[in-house]
Amino acid sequence: MDRSENNKYEYKGSLSAADTDIPVTEPDRQYFFMDKVKKLTEKRVQELGRPLTFHVTTFGCQMNARDSEKLRGILLKCGYTESESEDADLVLYNTCTVRENADNKVFGRLGVLHGYKKKNKEMMIGLCGCMAQESQVVEKLRKSYPFVDIIFGTHNVYMLAEILYERLSEHRKIIDVREKADGIVENLPLERKYSFKSGINIMFGCNNFCSYCIVPYVRGRERSREPEAIVCEIKKLVADGVKEVMLLGQNVNSYGKTLDHPVSFADLLRMVNEIDGLERIRFMTSHPKDLSDDLIDAMAECDKVCNHLHLPLQSGSDRLLADMNRHYTKEKYLSIVDKIRNKIPDIALTTDIIVGYPGETDEDFEETMDVVNRVRYDSAFTFIYSKRSGTPAARRDDQVPEDVVKARFDRLLTTVRSIGEEKAKALTGKTLPVLVEEVNRQDPSLVTGRLTNNSVVHLKGDKSLIGQILDVHLDECSGFYYYGTPVR
Ligand code: SAH
Ligand code: SF4
Ligand code: F3S
Repeated sequence: MDRSENNKYEYKGSLSAADTDIPVTEPDRQYFFMDKVKKLTEKRVQELGRPLTFHVTTFGCQMNARDSEKLRGILLKCGYTESESEDADLVLYNTCTVRENADNKVFGRLGVLHGYKKKNKEMMIGLCGCMAQESQVVEKLRKSYPFVDIIFGTHNVYMLAEILYERLSEHRKIIDVREKADGIVENLPLERKYSFKSGINIMFGCNNFCSYCIVPYVRGRERSREPEAIVCEIKKLVADGVKEVMLLGQNVNSYGKTLDHPVSFADLLRMVNEIDGLERIRFMTSHPKDLSDDLIDAMAECDKVCNHLHLPLQSGSDRLLADMNRHYTKEKYLSIVDKIRNKIPDIALTTDIIVGYPGETDEDFEETMDVVNRVRYDSAFTFIYSKRSGTPAARRDDQVPEDVVKARFDRLLTTVRSIGEEKAKALTGKTLPVLVEEVNRQDPSLVTGRLTNNSVVHLKGDKSLIGQILDVHLDECSGFYYYGTPVR
C-alpha cells in the first residue's frame, strides 16, 4: 500500500525526504521504523540501566480495544516493556468520544499523568483514537495540555512506530491526524489481551450517520477487509490457542458490500464457522436495518455462532427513529425479533437505548418502554443522550430538560434490570458449556467464565482452567450471574 498525504494538521513528512532507505509500502515501512525505534530504545535502556516501560489505556468500544492490541504489539517490537501502571515511560490514551463524559474522563486523567511526568523526565504522553479526530480536541490539547507529546488519530494507528521515531529524533510535539484512511494495513504485530479469545476487525468506519452519533466523523467511511484476510487471521489465532472470536464492525450486517467481489456477512459467518479448532463466534454490532433473513438462517445453521444477538434499538418511537436516521420502525424491529426467536428460540437478546434524544416526548418514551416490555431483553445498555458537536441532532433547539431525562432513564433502567434478572433465572439447573476467562477478582478461589449467551458464571477453580470450555451445572442464579459446578 502506498501512503498518500491527507493529514489535517502538521505532519511534516521530513523523514521521507531525508532517508531514501525508508520503504514506501506498508507494512514494511512500519517494520523499518519499529527497528529504528528499537535501536534508540536499547541505547537508552543501557544508559539508564533499567527497562523503558509503556502502558496503553483504552477507553470506549471493542474497536478501540483491538486497536490497543495493535499499539501494544508495536511498542513491544520497539523494545519497550509493558507496565501494569500508568506511572510509565510512555503512556498512550486510546480515547473514545461517543458521549461527552468519555471526553471529560480523559481530560481529567491527563492531569494525573502530568503529575507522573513531572517526576519522570523520560516520560512521553500520547493521545490517540476517536477524540484525536476532532479538531476542537486537538486545539484544546495544544493550548491547555502542552505536556502531551504525540497525538494521532484512528486512521494511522498502524503508524505508531514512525510517529515515535519522529518524536524521538526530532524532539518536538508530533500531531499526525488524518482525515481519512489510506487503506487497510494488514500483518502488523499485535499483542492480545487474552490468550483464548480475540476481537477481529472485519470492517472499519461507518456510513450510517445516525443523527446523534459522532462515530462516522471520527472513524471515516465504511471499509471491509477481504474475507480471505479475515479467515487467515482467525486460523492463525486458532493455531495460537484462540477459541472464541468476536467479529467487529460498527454495522457488521453491511459487511462486504464495498468489496470488489461483494460477500455478505451471512456468508462470512459460514466461512468462519468452517475453521477447525475454533469453538465460538460472536459479532458486534448488528444494525436492524441491514439484518437479513439469510443472516438469521446462517446464525441458526452455524454451530459455532453464540446464542446471543446484540440488536441496538435506540428508541421505540417511529417519529424519533426516523429523525435519528435509523431506517427502521418499531414494527420492523419487533418483526426481526420475532423472526429470530422463531428460528433460535432461546437466543439472548441485548440492546442499546438512548433516552432524552432531542424532542423526545412522554409518548415517544412510552413507545421505547413498550418495546422493552415486549422484547424482554436479557440486558440493555442505556444511555442518556449526549450532544456531540458536528452531528445534526446537536443543532436542534428542543433538547429535553435534564430532570425529565433523568426520571425517564431511572424508570427504563429499573425495568431493564428486573426483566434481566427474571430472564437470567430461567437457565438455573441446566448444564451448559462455559468458557473460563479469568480468576474472580473478588474471590480468588473462584474463576469466572461465560455461557454462549454471554451470561457470566462463577465456579470453583484456579487459573489453570483459563481458556478451557467446561460443562457446568448452573446451581444458583444471583442477580445477573450464576454460580455453577463443573460436571465431568
Ligand atoms: N454502531 C453501533 C453503535 C456504536 S456506539 C450501532 O449502530 O448500533 C454505541 C452506542 O452508543 C449506540 O448504540 C448508542 O446507543 C450510543 N450512542 C451513540 N451516540 C450517542 C450519543 N450522542 N448520546 C448517547 N448515546 C449515544
Ligand atoms: Fe453511530 Fe449509527 Fe454508525 Fe452505529 S450505525 S456507529 S450508531 S452512526
Ligand atoms: Fe468510542 Fe470511537 Fe468506539 S467514539 S464507541 S471508541 S468507535
